[in-house]
Amino acid sequence: MKYFVITGHRAATTGHFKLDDIAGGAGRLDILVRCVNSAFFLSHNLRKDVEAYLVCMGGEDAPKTVIFKGEELRYLNPDERSTASLIRNALMKPVEPGEEVKSSPGVYVSRMSFDDVMDDLSEKGEFVYLKEDGVDCREFEFPENPIFVLGDNRDLTEEEEAKLLSFSSEKINIGPVSLHADHCMIIVHNEVDRRSA
Ligand SMILES: C[S@@+](CC[C@H](N)C(=O)[O-])C[C@H]1O[C@@H](n2cnc3c(N)ncnc32)[C@H](O)[C@@H]1O
Repeated sequence: MKYFVITGHRAATTGHFKLDDIAGGAGRLDILVRCVNSAFFLSHNLRKDVEAYLVCMGGEDAPKTVIFKGEELRYLNPDERSTASLIRNALMKPVEPGEEVKSSPGVYVSRMSFDDVMDDLSEKGEFVYLKEDGVDCREFEFPENPIFVLGDNRDLTEEEEAKLLSFSSEKINIGPVSLHADHCMIIVHNEVDRRSA
């Protein structure tokens, strides 16, 4: 399995936004939408061995985490609007602390914070922190079940970074320049694909 955790530091936590305004009123939800696209899409296929955790930290109902599970996913299309609609439907579902509520096949919502997601995933694989000052990914041996953690248009906060580093984790860079989060995801997929080809 491969896991991705992306923190949307201002991303909406209720469904009260317009699908035409995901980059504005929804707190740069467009970034998370593109990350979903990068996590799952192949040409004419979906990656089934991937789960993406979108930690939404914006607004009064924060935190909420929307989870996409490749093995069960249906109705995911490459256009940003329909993915934003899947996320909005998830955010509109009533959910209590400790619950994980399914909103459509392969899409779940919970009230997990970044820390909760880290605790939950720590049982499932090894953390790999994507950061510009990490070691070169071309020199890196990827673990069997990597949990990639990255920021949105902002880096992880000091608190988030401290939580991540409280686990055994590796810090890697995917090249010499700072890239958009969704582009980083394609590159790590490619590096892992090349090693398993
Ligand atoms: C758009 S960047 C965040 C802001 C960026 N660090 C800056 O200073 O402009 C989004 C995230 O992608 C990851 N990232 C971007 N470039 C990277 C690189 N060259 N190597 C590893 N991770 C990278 C980091 O997790 C970063 O928080």
